[in-house]
Amino acid sequence: MQHILETQQFDREALNSLFQVATSLEGKRTKDLDGKIMASLFFAPSTRTRLSFESAMYRLGGHVISMENASESSSSTKGETIEDTIRIVDNYADVIVLRHPEVGMLARAAAVSEVSVINGGDGIGQHPTQAFLDLYTIFREIGRTDDFHIAFVGNLAYYRAARSLAYLLGKYNNVKMTFVSGPELAMKDDVKEYLKERGVQFTETDDLVGAMREADVVYQTRIAEEWIPDHDQYEKLRGKYVIDRALVDQMKEGSILIHPLPRAGEITPEVDDSPHAVYFKQAEYGVLVRMALLKLLLG
Ligand code: CP
Repeated sequence: MQHILETQQFDREALNSLFQVATSLEGKRTKDLDGKIMASLFFAPSTRTRLSFESAMYRLGGHVISMENASESSSSTKGETIEDTIRIVDNYADVIVLRHPEVGMLARAAAVSEVSVINGGDGIGQHPTQAFLDLYTIFREIGRTDDFHIAFVGNLAYYRAARSLAYLLGKYNNVKMTFVSGPELAMKDDVKEYLKERGVQFTETDDLVGAMREADVVYQTRIAEEWIPDHDQYEKLRGKYVIDRALVDQMKEGSILIHPLPRAGEITPEVDDSPHAVYFKQAEYGVLVRMALLKLLLG
């Protein structure tokens, strides 16, 4: 039994195995997880993470029990603790995918769970399976996981998936990072300290155009209103790093634009048919990566 809580837990070898299995599952429906049950407990909204995990489970012949709006529909509304909820769901499922708005809840759940707990996003903490699929997208689309330049753009302070990927890339060789954001949304010190310890080269700038011209991978983020308490500040920040067609056309040949999605105006729709835009394919790869993860955990 292994919990999936944060990307620092994983090494390159584990990711290589995950990616090999993911690729081998492309276009497949199997019975590998026949009889296994996945519980998806989502205490915060989701489209991609919950549905791609559930689709992955069904594609492997497994079964799903689901609470899509657990903050309102579960017995947490009656005061049940996360520990008690998990102890109960343990009896019903072989693996639990949990999303929670509060940092720390995943660790509390994992501490009492007898089945694997997968972090489906915990507040502004981490979203490790999103980072796995982001890296898989990079691997599939530019053909390597070492020796590239990635520009993270926009909301780096409150974007758990970007934090997870930055941590994960700290394990790879010669990955240069540029963090494009204003001071209000700058990457937090925990990530920067980790990268410094590992000798990873990173710079901070507000020059979006320059970063987009140079990067092999541009990672756009949503300015997440739910994490920015001051509405006026949110309104001020959300228009700052919009990527439109004129901007994306300046990216170098072979480079890619990724985004975990959902987007809320930070990539304009006319970018979608640019050869650089791979964010919808990225969401598609999410099913493969989550199939591979479930197969390795439960198979
Ligand atoms: N990328 C992502 O986590 O999307 P959802 O919030 O829709 O799951």
